[in-house]
Amino acid sequence: MADTYILGIESSCDETAAAVVRSGEQVISNVVSSQVKVHQPYGGVVPELASREHLRNIVPVVREALEKAGKTYESVDALAVTRGPGLAGALLVGVSFAKAIGFATGKPLIAVNHLEGHIHAVLLEHKQSGGVGIEFPVLALVVSGGHTHLFLAEQFAGDGGQPGAAVPHWTYRNIGRTRDDAAGEAFDKVAKLLGLGYPGGPMVDRLARHGDPKAVKFPGSQIKGKDRAVREGRAAQTEFDFSFSGIKTAVLRYVETHHMQGSISERQRKLATLENRKFEDVLAACDRETLDLVASFQRRVVLDLLEKTLDAARACEVRTLFITGGVAANSELRETFEREAAQQGLPVYFPSRPLSTDNAAMIAAAAYPKWLAKEFAPADLSAEAALQLR
Ligand code: KG4
Ligand code: ZN
Repeated sequence: MADTYILGIESSCDETAAAVVRSGEQVISNVVSSQVKVHQPYGGVVPELASREHLRNIVPVVREALEKAGKTYESVDALAVTRGPGLAGALLVGVSFAKAIGFATGKPLIAVNHLEGHIHAVLLEHKQSGGVGIEFPVLALVVSGGHTHLFLAEQFAGDGGQPGAAVPHWTYRNIGRTRDDAAGEAFDKVAKLLGLGYPGGPMVDRLARHGDPKAVKFPGSQIKGKDRAVREGRAAQTEFDFSFSGIKTAVLRYVETHHMQGSISERQRKLATLENRKFEDVLAACDRETLDLVASFQRRVVLDLLEKTLDAARACEVRTLFITGGVAANSELRETFEREAAQQGLPVYFPSRPLSTDNAAMIAAAAYPKWLAKEFAPADLSAEAALQLR
């Protein structure tokens, strides 16, 4: 089969990204422009600022991805864009841009669900490193700043309307989701609370190695009854749901009862004076109590993710685990899942770190089966902030 080059575009949250991927299995270029510096002073993503930055960055980012791949708008086979879920204004920038390019060049446009993108990042990584033969069903834990979901994924071979052709068709069933905060959000909020900067995940990850994860005993998450969305019929109750607001509140309570506010303010003041703050600066500004608290928090979150995922894997008799999304970059999470899944005889796959966090290569890769099936977006495609994956 001839090689297919897809230009992927992603703008669902705070990264403007574009990439060219060959036949869903080889990253040719992958450009990510992060807005971290813009949102840092606010300790979280500000939607209006995100849209403005996407508008500013989308043309140079897409141009760079094409140049690095030695491609032009005319020489790629198709365009792929994140339709949702994400911030409405941010998504709109990518969708409008991709539609305009599609209209001007006549190239087909493929709409991709961001969560499906994260799942296909794992497959892309696997194919790129020469791996073959994933066994289905797959249980995918998508764990990021905006999402914590368990999807049961199956792949069926169809012919995509071309008799004799083998066109993989994916189906997804959402069997678990967070009832409140996403895991990455908990990392970010706890880091903010402790004066460690934004985004919190990568910093907590590195600091946790210097603390004792057994120092503070946090209970595992407890989910009592139905939440509001379920009661009002806006969401289905799922058996393997997560909750991370409890651990966040427990950290806050610990800070209060151990009178840590003074040392947190002191750290914030010290770090604010540094122009190019390095990890070593933050580490030096943390006392033992903070490092132990950070390590204990991370251990609890990782164990909650692990326990729920393994319960679901057993109940659904899956053959393979995929762990993906920004939090999948976490070292303790990777080590723990690798060790525990191996004990259960379950193969577990992660994307490389650059493919774990938001990027457009995963969008171009997820678009490839849709290209084969000729599943193109309608001319009136619009962004959908609350798009579900099915
Ligand atoms: O997938 P992503 O780039 O964006 C969303 O779709 O949300 O994920 C970003 C999230 C942030 O919350 C960030 O703190 C978290 O992923 N993150 C990490 C690590 N790297 C990024 N969390 C824990 N450990 C990490 N190493
Ligand atoms: Zn994401």
